[in-house]
Amino acid sequence: MPNSNKTYIAELKNNVGRQVTLSGWLYNSRASGKIQFLIIRDGTGLCQCIVEKAKVADELFSRLKRLGQESSLTITGTVRADERSVGGYELTVTDAKIVSPTTDYPITPKSHGTDFLLKHRHLHLRSQRQWCIGKIRHTIIDAIRRFFNDNGFILIDTPIITATAGEDLQSLFEVDYFGSPLHLTQTGQLHVESAAMSFGKVYCFGPTFRAEKSKTRRHLTEFWMVEPEVAFIDLDGLLELAENFVSFIAADVLQNNKSQLETLGVDSATLEKIKPPFYRLTYTKVADILTGQKTRDFLAQQLEELKNQKQQLETKIAELEKQQTGQLKQWQKDKIAAELIELRSTLGEVDTRIENNPKHAKLAAEFQWGKDLGGSDETIISQMHDKPVFVTHYPKEAKAFYMKTDRDEEGVVLNFDLLAPAGFGEIIGGSVREDDYDLLLARIAEYGLDVENYRWYLDLRKYGSVPHGGFGLGVERTVAWLTAEKHIRQCIAFPRLMDKIYI
Ligand code: 4AD
Repeated sequence: MPNSNKTYIAELKNNVGRQVTLSGWLYNSRASGKIQFLIIRDGTGLCQCIVEKAKVADELFSRLKRLGQESSLTITGTVRADERSVGGYELTVTDAKIVSPTTDYPITPKSHGTDFLLKHRHLHLRSQRQWCIGKIRHTIIDAIRRFFNDNGFILIDTPIITATAGEDLQSLFEVDYFGSPLHLTQTGQLHVESAAMSFGKVYCFGPTFRAEKSKTRRHLTEFWMVEPEVAFIDLDGLLELAENFVSFIAADVLQNNKSQLETLGVDSATLEKIKPPFYRLTYTKVADILTGQKTRDFLAQQLEELKNQKQQLETKIAELEKQQTGQLKQWQKDKIAAELIELRSTLGEVDTRIENNPKHAKLAAEFQWGKDLGGSDETIISQMHDKPVFVTHYPKEAKAFYMKTDRDEEGVVLNFDLLAPAGFGEIIGGSVREDDYDLLLARIAEYGLDVENYRWYLDLRKYGSVPHGGFGLGVERTVAWLTAEKHIRQCIAFPRLMDKIYI
């Protein structure tokens, strides 16, 4: 409904003292005798609107009092700056029109279980947390495009239906393509490599699919990946590109999403640290760290800290449970109930970490050179660092067929994974590509791939082959890391999970 008089909540700062009309939804409300406090959200922010019985018609006052959460309305009033108020501005209401009243909105401000919220994802997107994450995801995607566009990279849209497998054969989603078995792309890399031979510096950016049977907090079956590819680049050049790129994204989030980070409880100082140079470790060094005394001490100390945290949480929970039995107003009861849900959920997570600590310690101690790093190994290394860490030079057997072998060191490839710090784990995988025709052909055969599907890819090594490489950054993992969100299912509007698609 176009409305030239409409003001957005984000614009209230320019309208102090003026009368404005907001259009939005009722996020929350409370009444206290002759005054009502309505929190309105309009997509750009939240605003507390104060309705005094003496200043509006009686009928409107009582209709507003009965108005359910998520009712839509337009509301008119005078803007007042108030630091204590959500968003920093308030509206002293003079009039309102109810567009569509709502009753029994299923998601209340109290906490709900994950399954319930995923089933109500179409509504849950309106919650403050999801709104903040969505805004930050938008900034990240905008920063990704800007970084490459401003640095001379050309965007190439690669196909989603393909015959080639870029990564492991076990995680392909098959598509019946007019009777022929093809699959959904795992990566745009192979196609974008061809484009790099035309434009020099390119990137593709789109959805990718993995039928990985992983139910972890880091796995989706459909996720967004951006993949730059550069002709005439070596491993050092790739690491430099990746650290500049990730630092650029973090700086953009800091600049554009201060209030969302605050609402999510993210400490800006952790993002301010994301600046080049990042740490650099070889895989062999990581294997030594995992099996050495440093990791044993680190995990033992972590276990002590977790046990202390558990004790503090239990004390706090017991205190609140005691308070609950006293004489309280309804809003106080609700507040304690919501706090208890939060604390019990944190306690559950701490218990899981206490349980996992010895298992992870055992896996690390028994780590053998040659295996890919497991999720818990990555977590340990990333917990030991306060900035992202590059792990380079993995064993050839642990990685994809297209990675170039290190001609100076037997058995390893010129690749890297970038691990986000503080336990988050991998957000980027990349490598220099095998550019020798015969070696690549041999690797394709070794991996049991049908060489006929890779003739075109081999051609790139036949006609003007050059050293080249690139990487892929997973959008949802980056969003989860920068928003300190525990599970990446919260970092895409409609997540696709291994065991379920809800909506
Ligand atoms: O390490 P990966 O598998 O690398 C590639 O696909 C290369 N072809 C990229 C390239 O060199 N052009 O995946 C890259 C990134 C991971 O670091 C992770 O962030 C994300 O993609 N990713 C996933 N994100 C969510 N769910 C999954 N199942 C993911 N698998 C990978």
